[in-house]
Amino acid sequence: MNKTNTWMAMIAVAVMGFSTSAMANSGGAHLEKAQIDVTSQEQLRRGLTVFTDVCMGCHSAKYITYSGLMLYPELGLSREAVDELRGEKSLMSGMISDLTPADAIESYGKAPPDLSLIVPGRRGGADYVYSLLTGFEHDPHNKIPDGNYNRVYPGHRIAMPDPLSWLDHDPSETEELEQQANDVAAFLAFIGDPHQNERRAIGCWVVAFLILLTLVLWRLKVEVWKDVKH
Ligand code: HEC
Repeated sequence: MNKTNTWMAMIAVAVMGFSTSAMANSGGAHLEKAQIDVTSQEQLRRGLTVFTDVCMGCHSAKYITYSGLMLYPELGLSREAVDELRGEKSLMSGMISDLTPADAIESYGKAPPDLSLIVPGRRGGADYVYSLLTGFEHDPHNKIPDGNYNRVYPGHRIAMPDPLSWLDHDPSETEELEQQANDVAAFLAFIGDPHQNERRAIGCWVVAFLILLTLVLWRLKVEVWKDVKH
């Protein structure tokens, strides 16, 4: 193969790779952008409340312990607040729902997945969770009954009953329900990677240090070479 052919082959492979990945990404429904701030204590606490009051009726977050909740500075929860949340459960226990998987299967036909890692585990992450919670609609093809049709769930037929009652909500409640969906998406994004804020802060210091080091080395180079005639 001559040089031009090799180049052409390489370009063709690159174009093919690019277009197949673009096709893969375009699969699935359009996701709404979640408005989340995983450094906002107010949003995370509101999200925790939605999670414990609504979602934990069926779901768990077994990798998040009650003592862990107390340790995250982002949540800023006192021991008393955590004691109230955990009730009789031990401080070292994960956030387990009272609904057993067997009961859930009997009632809904499927076990609700653990939500500890749902944001890193789903394409679209927090946007997917937000869009799922606000994605209950009437089936445009009238095949799937109301309450089981979800715009973004793969295949659209979901076993989860519309948890925020989005489908039948009064238009005056839209803003509040959107906020609940955003808040719980923020909380799930936070627990899916609870050290993300710390890591970003360290990252900023590392970048600042590297910039400073570059400046120092550049001055040093100028100093060392200044007497050398070019
Ligand atoms: C009445 C029980 C119930 C409640 C309450 C509930 N869920 Fe679910 N959830 C389910 C079931 C059952 C499934 C499995 C659905 C399926 O795969 O068809 C599910 C699935 C999910 C999924 C995974 C979807 C996927 O892509 O596999 C997410 C995310 C989710 N729920 C989030 C939430 C959030 C957030 C809340 C609280 C606002 C909540 N759920 C409240 C029962 C519930």
